[in-house]
Amino acid sequence: MAGSQFLSYLAVAILLSSRASHAQQSCGKIPTSGRIINGEDAEPGEWPWQVSFTSDGDHFCGGSLINENWVLSAAHCFPGGNNNYTVILGRHRLDGMGVNEAARGVEKIVNHPYYDRNTFDNDISLVRLSMPVQMNNYISTICLASKDSVIHPGTYTWVTGWGTTSNGTAADVLQEVRVPIVGQRECECSYPGLTMNMICAGFREGGKDSCQGDSGGPQVFNDRSENAMVQVGVVSFGQGCALPGFPGVYTSVQRYEWWIRNVTGSSPPSFVNVTTPGNFSDGFFVCPTDRPMTTEYLYTHYPPHFTTDDDSIFGTGANIIHFSYFSHFTSFFALFVSLYVLVGHS
Ligand code: ARG
Repeated sequence: MAGSQFLSYLAVAILLSSRASHAQQSCGKIPTSGRIINGEDAEPGEWPWQVSFTSDGDHFCGGSLINENWVLSAAHCFPGGNNNYTVILGRHRLDGMGVNEAARGVEKIVNHPYYDRNTFDNDISLVRLSMPVQMNNYISTICLASKDSVIHPGTYTWVTGWGTTSNGTAADVLQEVRVPIVGQRECECSYPGLTMNMICAGFREGGKDSCQGDSGGPQVFNDRSENAMVQVGVVSFGQGCALPGFPGVYTSVQRYEWWIRNVTGSSPPSFVNVTTPGNFSDGFFVCPTDRPMTTEYLYTHYPPHFTTDDDSIFGTGANIIHFSYFSHFTSFFALFVSLYVLVGHS
């Protein structure tokens, strides 16, 4: 009798403790409400996994908290490996110290071993914090898309960050923007160097996008079936920001489940198998011929003075003009216009 009583107590205790640990690990809290270019201000605590990487007090990249010790970000944010970076969690504004903020140092940065700084392939990084963080209403983890996830074109995702806004300066209040996934074939029309490790999002007419300073930050999908927000991408690169025909390019998180598990070891983050509604694929997509490389298009969007190949005001090494054929075009235009000016003046 005493034995069976003990057993039932034990069962209840196990049940309670497993529930407790489950609750503690729950990731991807759904925001209660809902530049980034043409985004809107987030509410405090709306995106509690969003972190800000700072160097000498200046924000330079975003990231996402995936468990109490690890932050996911982009490899191109850390070209020089481990510097004196500070990770700020629970952050809402860049100006002034927020009451819900917590700061951590960086114990180590693990850039993906096959990150390619020329193609931006494998633009993903794991950053281990100097001390674990305590979860609360303003600081909590995001779930990650597992390797078997299927994310169809047209799926809406949210991107958040303090990057450049439409007025050309960094945001103060954290910005959020909703952009649809662009099919792989369609995105290849704009970025011929696209790989399977990249996923694109944006509107054909442009207007809404992530931008410089948003890099490393999360692109998340509201998975209603799991009742959780799930990170599908990491802000990586783009041709300009919010230009028509040039979606933002994100590192595809699902491709790295194995690598992330491997690096985080005994305390892996939570992976969720995401399947979004939508048509099967964009396999028959035919590239439009009127974009992107018409001379008119280039001239209006890339006037000849704009020949820098690094427009990142944060010095993260992000190449605006990313593919070499593009540099050729821009140099060609620079040449063309210099000749025009010379001839015009003589
Ligand atoms: N590479 C940029 C950064 O370092 C992010 C660019 C994203 N661009 C875009 N058009 N979505 O912050």
